[in-house]
Amino acid sequence: MTSASPSLPQFCPAPDILDDLELLRVGAFAPQHDVRPDGALEVHVPAEIAATARAAGGVEIVDPEGVPLVRFEATGRDCECGGLVLASAPTWIGKPSPRTFERFYLAPGSVSAPDLVAVVVDRPLSTEDLLEIAATAGHRPLCFLVLAGPTLAAHATGVALIRSALAATARMGRGDVIAIPLDRRTSRAKREAVLAAYTSGEVINLPPRHTGEHRHGLVLFFTGLSGSGKSTVARSVRDAIVEDGARSVTLLDGDLVRRHLSAGLGFSAADRETNIRRIGWVGAEISRHGGVAICSPIAPFASTRDAVRDMVTEAGGDFLLIHISTPLAECERRDRKGLYAKARRGEIPEFTGISSPYEDPTDADLAIDTTGISVEAAVEQVLDLLRSRGHLTSEEVLEWAI
Ligand code: ADX
Repeated sequence: MTSASPSLPQFCPAPDILDDLELLRVGAFAPQHDVRPDGALEVHVPAEIAATARAAGGVEIVDPEGVPLVRFEATGRDCECGGLVLASAPTWIGKPSPRTFERFYLAPGSVSAPDLVAVVVDRPLSTEDLLEIAATAGHRPLCFLVLAGPTLAAHATGVALIRSALAATARMGRGDVIAIPLDRRTSRAKREAVLAAYTSGEVINLPPRHTGEHRHGLVLFFTGLSGSGKSTVARSVRDAIVEDGARSVTLLDGDLVRRHLSAGLGFSAADRETNIRRIGWVGAEISRHGGVAICSPIAPFASTRDAVRDMVTEAGGDFLLIHISTPLAECERRDRKGLYAKARRGEIPEFTGISSPYEDPTDADLAIDTTGISVEAAVEQVLDLLRSRGHLTSEEVLEWAI
């Protein structure tokens, strides 16, 4: 085959094969893993192209955007399906179109130091992981090798892993990030072969994800008037716990629950009681399995809140009550949904704070009036409470360890 073969048939293989080709191109496959019928990398030319490829003497592989990447001679093993499994050496003709975070896809050897410690990132990193890594690596240089394949799949989980590694370097104040177009679920042999091309030093593999089974389950229960800021604070607290990475979290927001779990219920005292008890039941079950449930209904009645506390405690979970105590006047001034105006006009009966009571808690673990404070400031107060009760790894511990 000469380099001027304008009439070769083209085809675009599956994302994992494109990643394998990229590994081959950058030299991350050792020669024994080169393209060959029995090797780790198999390029399969489908039946509808194989005949044309044989007639033309070769085939040209393109990326999903149609950019020609590599040519192969049409030699190899016949496949039962009528296709062809290539066994020729590649002739590189182009670079693939840039991927998300392209600048982190460095070739083997880009980061090297005699005492380099490489961390293989195949799941999001938690604060606890960072503490372990800091303890193992000491003052040696660090490099995060992110298994980011399949890089061109529709739901590129690799992007989230790269982001997690970047966040880790920012939090630790050091370390390089290298993205590798390799699927984290690939065979052990292939994974080790590729990693060996990137590093010859110590390799840290993350322990399988633990979902906080050694920790107590938790129901974090927000209560407060409509428009007080419960949902906003609850959502941000959820994000902070998810980003911390060590715990699984379920958010049971008032409006969301009423669309699903409590669809069909109204706002009579009895229906509100049923609604909150359902939320409490689900929350208690989540806490029984060591998870975190964040609930943010109005929950206007003290007796119902007490019932939820009992359900959770019986399930072995911790229960924390947070009163978002923003006064009625401020909630009504915000009136984001226009409900207070309607309630004042008598268009919504039994509206909490207007025509239905809200019983202020006397047993809250924390009360936050969101008037004039930022969401971040409110969230920080909740996170401080969680840290003090051992439900979240503390940033101070991380700083101290690094
Ligand atoms: S609770 O009283 O049963 O805890 P929940 O938190 O589920 O209430 O639902 C409150 C949400 O429903 C409010 O944020 C508001 O958007 C809407 N809503 C509709 N009618 C009422 C009402 N009569 N009283 C309070 N909220 C209402």
